[in-house]
Amino acid sequence: MSLTYQIATIISNALENEWTVKQVEQLLEKPKQTKHGDMAFPCFTLAPKMRKAPQQIALELSKKLEDSLITSVRVAGGYVNLFLHQDLVTNQVLQAITTDLQQYGSKKKEHEKIIIDFSSPNIAKPFSMGHLRSTVIGNSLANITEKNGYEAVRINHLGDWGTQFGKLIVAYKLWGNQDKILAAPIAELLKIYVHFHDMAEKDDSLNDQARAAFKSLEEGDEEALNLWNWFKDASLKEFQQIYELLGVRFDSYAGEAFYNDKMTSVVDGLKEKGLLTESNGAFVVELEDMPPSLITKKDGATLYATRDLAAAIYRQQTYQATKTFYVVGNEQTLHFKQLFLVLEKMGYEWAKQLEHVPFGMMLKDGKKMSTRKGKIILLADVIADAIHTAKHNINEKNPTLEDKEEIAKQVGIGAVIFNDLKNDRMNDIEFSLEQMLHFEGETGPYVQYTNARICSLLQKGNFKAEEFNFSPLGDETWPIIQLLEDFPRVVEKAFAYADPSQIAKFCLLLSRQFNKYYANTKILAKDETTSSKLTLAFSVSIVLKECLSLLGMPAPQKM
Ligand code: ARG
Repeated sequence: MSLTYQIATIISNALENEWTVKQVEQLLEKPKQTKHGDMAFPCFTLAPKMRKAPQQIALELSKKLEDSLITSVRVAGGYVNLFLHQDLVTNQVLQAITTDLQQYGSKKKEHEKIIIDFSSPNIAKPFSMGHLRSTVIGNSLANITEKNGYEAVRINHLGDWGTQFGKLIVAYKLWGNQDKILAAPIAELLKIYVHFHDMAEKDDSLNDQARAAFKSLEEGDEEALNLWNWFKDASLKEFQQIYELLGVRFDSYAGEAFYNDKMTSVVDGLKEKGLLTESNGAFVVELEDMPPSLITKKDGATLYATRDLAAAIYRQQTYQATKTFYVVGNEQTLHFKQLFLVLEKMGYEWAKQLEHVPFGMMLKDGKKMSTRKGKIILLADVIADAIHTAKHNINEKNPTLEDKEEIAKQVGIGAVIFNDLKNDRMNDIEFSLEQMLHFEGETGPYVQYTNARICSLLQKGNFKAEEFNFSPLGDETWPIIQLLEDFPRVVEKAFAYADPSQIAKFCLLLSRQFNKYYANTKILAKDETTSSKLTLAFSVSIVLKECLSLLGMPAPQKM
């Protein structure tokens, strides 16, 4: 039973159960300043029903709060500030973590599914920085979803359909070279694709050929399909390397092409419901307060939006998910607003459960990091750079470390992931290898290093969780205990706001508090508190490891 729940029960009882434990729990706050106590109960929302001033309520309530968990109660305005019994709470928290281990903070399993649509790169194009952000945020959100008791369904909605494949087929037939494509599929496909655009500027007939090629693809022409399949497989192989490095997996790769044979029923459905309007031969759904959603083009071809409609309907039938997160950059905000509104107009109740999870851009030296045209920054190169720099840093810090290659990989990748997740996702983020790889500061390696130090400390102390035997620790451990105690709520909040940065910021705080304590305390010095101190270190490490795992980062034992 969590501490807030216990305190809420005491308060609810004192209020003669006028307010339920749950209601009280929701009102409980953590004061910003420690001098205001460990927990605060605001009485403002109680005032109307109780027909008393908040101060009056606080005063009366404060007199009734007697429990071994509470050492003192103070009233400040409409607040009741509570000071808790540190030893009792410390013992409780350490017991809970050493019992639950990685399950600490996990919610009961709900058997409800939540879909996370993330990563979703475009075939035959380089994996962009935007796709990296979607991959990292989406993967963490899926982990957080599971920690909150739901079943996560990870879907990679591949961009593997659309007129660009017509262009690619034409380009390949004109200028393609099979061997070159086999050697470096995405780079080579991008090259002929860019060349197509250059040539089409001078010769518009190429665009007609491309449209015809896409049409034949949509109609299932064998040659076109074979080429498309080949482009797709080759690209996926490259993407797979990135996913492997990042430790990301998917339950489904059903991308846009998957819905090709499900389009007619969507368009018919819209027609039957009287939602389609013709506009110059194209069909649209008119929407209030925003541009219409384009459903079919003049030539009957469907669009990205049409395929998203089909995907949403298909997924609802297949998974009956309670919620869907679309982790896609904020430049697609309008697209998702339109999509959700069209589904609502179609009468689908579940449209309300769809949520766009947008994020900002990745910047380098203040400018957008793009993967366009000739100047492509390949993500695989970016990651390789991070690993290389990590290895350099490790060599300086710990030259005799065993297994340096593997650890450099874990640190390099951890740095890239953490750099992405430590800020509110809507912020644009700066990509600076040098910064993100520091062992101090707000970095992934800092958190990993804190954990690795604890691991070797526990080894030196020959620590065994089952031998935990509590004796009171000093005041300086209280901030650490409070953070550990708060972890289950951080997990809930990260889910409620679809925001992994809640976890990232939390583990930075926890690392900082622990390192401060560690710098001033001889944890291994033998006395009656050794077991408690080691258990504290162990508990911090359990929670840090769990944070790293929720963020999708490795946790090396040594660094
Ligand atoms: N492939 C798209 C792009 O790169 C992202 C797809 C996101 N998911 C979705 N269901 N629309 O822009």
